[in-house]
Amino acid sequence: MDENTSLDTLRDVLVNADGKTPLADRFRALFYLKSVGTEFEQNSEKASKAIDYIAEAFRDDSELLKHEVAYCLGQTHNLEAAPVLRDILADKDQQCMVRHEAAEALGALGDKDSLPILVQYQADPEEMVEIQQTCELAIERIHWENSKLSKEEVLQKSLYESVDPAPPLPLNTSTDKVAKLQQILNDESEPLFQRYRAMFRLRDLGTDEACMALASGLKDSSALFKHEIAYIFGQICNPVTVPSLIDVVQREEEAPMVRHEAAEALGAIATDETFPVLKGLLQDKDEVVRESAVVALDMWEYENSNEIEYAKV
Ligand SMILES: [Fe+2]
Ligand SMILES: [Fe+2]
Repeated sequence: MDENTSLDTLRDVLVNADGKTPLADRFRALFYLKSVGTEFEQNSEKASKAIDYIAEAFRDDSELLKHEVAYCLGQTHNLEAAPVLRDILADKDQQCMVRHEAAEALGALGDKDSLPILVQYQADPEEMVEIQQTCELAIERIHWENSKLSKEEVLQKSLYESVDPAPPLPLNTSTDKVAKLQQILNDESEPLFQRYRAMFRLRDLGTDEACMALASGLKDSSALFKHEIAYIFGQICNPVTVPSLIDVVQREEEAPMVRHEAAEALGAIATDETFPVLKGLLQDKDEVVRESAVVALDMWEYENSNEIEYAKV
């Protein structure tokens, strides 16, 4: 399977048409389809087809796969993905992580037409807090992207390809110090969007000190907030974060969405001590954590494969 594999074959792998496709292969097919869906300026017909094929996977049972599907659609910049993401956000039969990721993806697309539905779910008192908070962030992100401020602020160019739920705090301001950023990060009276902006600024600093500041946020009351920090640790891949990620993943009472991100981050960092922890998670009580361990071990093996090749010589 590579970028030249036909779209129909990629779809069959993604949706597990033969009923025995390993999860890791399905993820790989998803990433190839995502890159086709992103190239709508070069080939709009092919891109639309890729978006439709990706969306077929929302019929699956796997919460892990579907949340990744929503995430990938949000990363395509392709507004053709917005209607299906709105449907998923509105579908209460979909799991929390999937609906969360759909709302976040609408923010990542910067889709102004999605503001009414995001406002609706943010304000719904019956709604889960993770969904309310995701909608709040997505609304703020869309407003920010369309604001004058976003044109004036000087931001560090991200080292990562991801479209994030919030931009980092700007450079050359009085807030641009780790201690100050940590204070904003941990201040639950600050708006969530501002706290996320401090979070992404700390990510972009990426030093050991910035990572330790981020780790202090793993005690927050919001599962959403903690899952984002764990996700970021998987991007930074700094081994200083490993003890805090192991702590999170082993917290029995922690929300599955947080433990899932911590498991995947450990797979990406792929140091020796992460391997037995991930193996242990294959028997976890939460399905989404068990599946994350499968994906994380696949990443771990990939990260360590050069070493294995080297050892064989
Ligand atoms: Fe998420
Ligand atoms: Fe995730």
